Amino acid sequence: MKKKRPSISLSPQLEQLLSSHAGIQEGLHKNKKLLQELAAAVKALSDAYVEPEKCDWKALYKKTAAVQAYLLYYLPVNLVKLFPLLDELVKGGAFDLAQRQHMSVLDIGCGPGTFMLGLLEYLCHVSRTDASGLQSISLTGVDRIKDSLAAADSLIRQYCSLGFLPPGMEVKASFRQGSVISPDFLKSPELYDLIIAGNIIAELQGEALSDCLAAITGHLAPGGALIIVDPGTRRAARRLLDVRNMLLQHTELRLYAPCLCAASCPLQDDPGQWCHEKLFWHPTEAIRLIDGVLGFTKEKGIKYSFLSFVKNDVERLSIHAGMAKDKIWRVGSYVIKNKGEDRLWVCNGEQRLQLRRLERNSSETNSDFEQAERGDLVFVDGAVPRIAFHDLPRDAVFTIVR
Ligand SMILES: C[S@@+](CC[C@H](N)C(=O)[O-])C[C@H]1O[C@@H](n2cnc3c(N)ncnc32)[C@H](O)[C@@H]1O
Repeated sequence: MKKKRPSISLSPQLEQLLSSHAGIQEGLHKNKKLLQELAAAVKALSDAYVEPEKCDWKALYKKTAAVQAYLLYYLPVNLVKLFPLLDELVKGGAFDLAQRQHMSVLDIGCGPGTFMLGLLEYLCHVSRTDASGLQSISLTGVDRIKDSLAAADSLIRQYCSLGFLPPGMEVKASFRQGSVISPDFLKSPELYDLIIAGNIIAELQGEALSDCLAAITGHLAPGGALIIVDPGTRRAARRLLDVRNMLLQHTELRLYAPCLCAASCPLQDDPGQWCHEKLFWHPTEAIRLIDGVLGFTKEKGIKYSFLSFVKNDVERLSIHAGMAKDKIWRVGSYVIKNKGEDRLWVCNGEQRLQLRRLERNSSETNSDFEQAERGDLVFVDGAVPRIAFHDLPRDAVFTIVR
């Protein structure tokens, strides 16, 4: 039986830090005018993301309201995406957090430090339950906008002074202004254990994209992981499909997630579909209030697309000992409820199947079916192929394994 996924939320300390950094001293609910202004700025950013190449981002981020909107809305929404991505790598044995004393991290297109803060929040979160020997972290952020780097520097510094980090953990942060599309923009031989590229890769194309990928993969340390995360839109997800192919063809990196194997993607020739995940969480107060004004629905989940690659020989799915690997799938849709039956898409990186379970075939062995969520790994045995789908009879097994 599925254990409910732990619900994700920002720490109250970070929520408070973001508010004060955005210059909001008293609760937004007490300041209707400010709330309206912030909501308008979130809407303007949301519109700009629809066609990002047409936006003058430098000019936009000169506006105080846009900076406040990013800090209070998009930063938290993006930051929490890192939790399930790191969890999958760490718990799957692909990124050995427990064995590391030091970790060097590169965040490209870091903006105000979203994913660096995300990593620190994640570490604070897991340190409550899992022992880690991590004593020091060096964070390097690269962005072309100087003001964003200054904001990142200040936020990381203040976060570290909250006394919230695991005891004894030291954090060193440095920032470089530069463009990630100039060849070897890092200008140093340093290797990084974790490289995060958040909401930037899907915007690069052609030579700029290949130069950037070459630079970041060349700076990934052995045993390291690369996380690329972008919005869960069709446009971004289709672009990540090209990135997936480029990294598989031109580098030694191993694809770790979302795909369970590195075959040709089954969505490659199906432009109507796109691979994305949905994350369920507790939105911050500011996001709930802004959504209330705009009619946005972040409390119903956040869509995103991602790729995780590793530089090691870890065998995918090896932690699921005793289960045939070809029977493990990733859920790629929500449960589609019809009269008398439920349906669900699953994918393993090579093949995509629609599973159907008739209500009358619901049984103890397949009872996880109705609880499955996008991104779950499931063990499926005994599905019977039909013309357009696979049927789960009463004695079929459908178990959520993660
Ligand atoms: C949508 S923001 C994402 C910021 C942060 N990673 C996040 O997810 O919240 C994209 C960031 O990438 C930066 N960026 C875009 N193109 C860049 C380039 N060629 N070189 C360096 N930074 C770039 C922008 O300045 C901006 O801060």
